[in-house]
Amino acid sequence: MQIPSTVAIIMDGNGRWAKKRGLPRTAGHKKGADTIRDIGLAANDIGIKKLILYAFSTENWKRPEDEVGYLCKLPGIFFDRYMKELMENNIRVTFAGELEKFPEETQKVIQKAVNLSQNNTGLNLCLAINYGSRREIVLGIQKYAQDIKEQKRNNDLTEDEFQQYLFVPEDIDLMIRTSGEVRLSNFLLWQVAYSEFIFTPVPWPDFDRQCLIDCIKEYNERDRRFGGLSS
Ligand code: FPP
Repeated sequence: MQIPSTVAIIMDGNGRWAKKRGLPRTAGHKKGADTIRDIGLAANDIGIKKLILYAFSTENWKRPEDEVGYLCKLPGIFFDRYMKELMENNIRVTFAGELEKFPEETQKVIQKAVNLSQNNTGLNLCLAINYGSRREIVLGIQKYAQDIKEQKRNNDLTEDEFQQYLFVPEDIDLMIRTSGEVRLSNFLLWQVAYSEFIFTPVPWPDFDRQCLIDCIKEYNERDRRFGGLSS
């Protein structure tokens, strides 16, 4: 079976999962964080190189204050609980997005996990946090313009070079969205140019190792041509 090198997941459905059980939305996010642990370990075992998870979008600030507050606290709860296990499994934690807009405490716990795991060589578990794809592209253009101004670059940018200015410089092989919605919600717009997409009805808190394996099996049934012809 061919294993996709880079997999991105839009972790949707935490709120609905909780509502169905008569629980507060935050209970769905808490269970969703446990799913991050399960799917991170599974992806590492399967041999996926980079797993990018949409944990907090630039639009999520519009949610009620208590929910935003809880989402800011979750990384701390998550790493307290699971960092040891991630380290034992050689998993490297990274992030994509404008971390500096988060409370200092949230920034610290994420930075600590990144630093602690920086030499690990297994899965790169990348949390997209305060991430928005249009913003990422605009920031990339600003950085490039700055490089021109400082005469570090000429005005001769290629697509591959521009990609290096993005938070996520890799192409995505497989993009998964849980919980039935069929849209991208400003996630990795540049990087999905040739991705395979899978939309599953399973809400994120119920998405387990077998669900991931099923997605990879489906990915293997696709005929990826990158604009060319089948071989
Ligand atoms: C979408 O579900 C989910 C989010 C906006 C947040 C995802 C966050 C986590 C899974 C936990 C993050 C944890 C760490 C450690 C970074 P929703 O609330 O939009 O669900 P709904 O569409 O059913 O309301």
